[in-house]
Amino acid sequence: MSRILVTGGAGFIGSNFVRMVLAEHPEVFIANLDKLTYAGNLENLAGFLDHSNHKFIKGDICDGRLVEQIIDEHRIDTIINFAAESHVDRSITGAKIFIETNVTGTLTLLEAARDKDLERFIQVSTDEVYGELGPEGKFTEQTPLSPNSPYSASKAAADHLVEAFGHTWGVKYNITRCSNNYGPYQFPEKLIPLMINNALNDKELPVYGDGLYVRDWLYVYDHCTAVWRVLQKAPPGEIYNIGGCSEKANLDVIDLILKRLDKPKSLIKHVKDRPGHDRRYAIDADKIITDLAWQPSLSFEEGINRTIDWYINNQDWLGSVVSGDYQKYYEQMYKDR
Ligand code: NAD
Ligand code: TYD
Repeated sequence: MSRILVTGGAGFIGSNFVRMVLAEHPEVFIANLDKLTYAGNLENLAGFLDHSNHKFIKGDICDGRLVEQIIDEHRIDTIINFAAESHVDRSITGAKIFIETNVTGTLTLLEAARDKDLERFIQVSTDEVYGELGPEGKFTEQTPLSPNSPYSASKAAADHLVEAFGHTWGVKYNITRCSNNYGPYQFPEKLIPLMINNALNDKELPVYGDGLYVRDWLYVYDHCTAVWRVLQKAPPGEIYNIGGCSEKANLDVIDLILKRLDKPKSLIKHVKDRPGHDRRYAIDADKIITDLAWQPSLSFEEGINRTIDWYINNQDWLGSVVSGDYQKYYEQMYKDR
């Protein structure tokens, strides 16, 4: 039986990953360590919080003693690190917590993986570590790291640490670098759930700059199957880009959302741009497709329709995560734009 410590498993991607693994791989036990920041919600664990192969632990990945205790108590053989501060805009207004969680937290987990001689350490990273692209080309695993935001700089630092622990102490690792995810349980600070939530409530849709920034979208379930495939099949020390070949300009994404919700384009409001805004991301995922026989299962059009339906049908969830703190965040983030 594989016994995995998943960190950040109450967040967007982590909770989708735990849900998928518990449903599809009954031989796996998961200890789920999450600090429950604003982005981590027990509501995201609906349907599996009390599953017999799942144990939720509230705590910080920077707490080395706790991490070692979990590894011992649950006889963990693998760590998959999803835990992070993940929002670029928040990293621009306050970078320190990004260094603490994304860098020091990853270091703490690596030390535990080394000292406990774990079978595998998987670092869930991002394509944003590569920086930005012009109108042509895609990121490959050979693209040099050139992060532009405090968020991506902290993720790149963590990637370097993972490789250093592999090189220096033989920690058996993989790094995955995925493009932008969307789907159920994404906190409504990111583009797609924010626009759906605002449109559902007939609120303005704040588009940064000209709205022609391009992201390469992947449905969250497909990211989860890719991480699982890496865990099952990848040799240690390999890095994989993950992407859905679904490049879209932000305005085109918003257009689809408005059409599906039957809301007017007049809700769109162009606002002041994000400082240092990366123009375009696009992933070359040939390596994982060829070497590990992974494929995304949904087109963007299928995925976005599913996602919009999920948000329409889960407005209780939206209501519970969009609490008083969220309103404060929203007013602060968008007030001078
Ligand atoms: P998220 O913000 O939705 O969730 C992060 C989770 O980590 C939350 O549950 C939070 O409570 C937890 N957490 C934060 N600090 C912690 C700490 N110190 N100790 C323990 N738990 C802590 O993020 P997400 O979108 O699910 O992203 C998951 C991972 O995937 C991140 O590492 C992110 O960099 C990476 N990633 C995200 C995307 C995307 O589009 N969302 C794309 C590529 C890679
Ligand atoms: P985001 O979801 O924050 O992801 P990332 O910056 O990590 O790619 O943003 C996706 C794109 O949407 C990015 O170009 C910024 C833009 N955006 C807006 O135009 N308005 C918004 O309110 C948000 C949150 C993002």
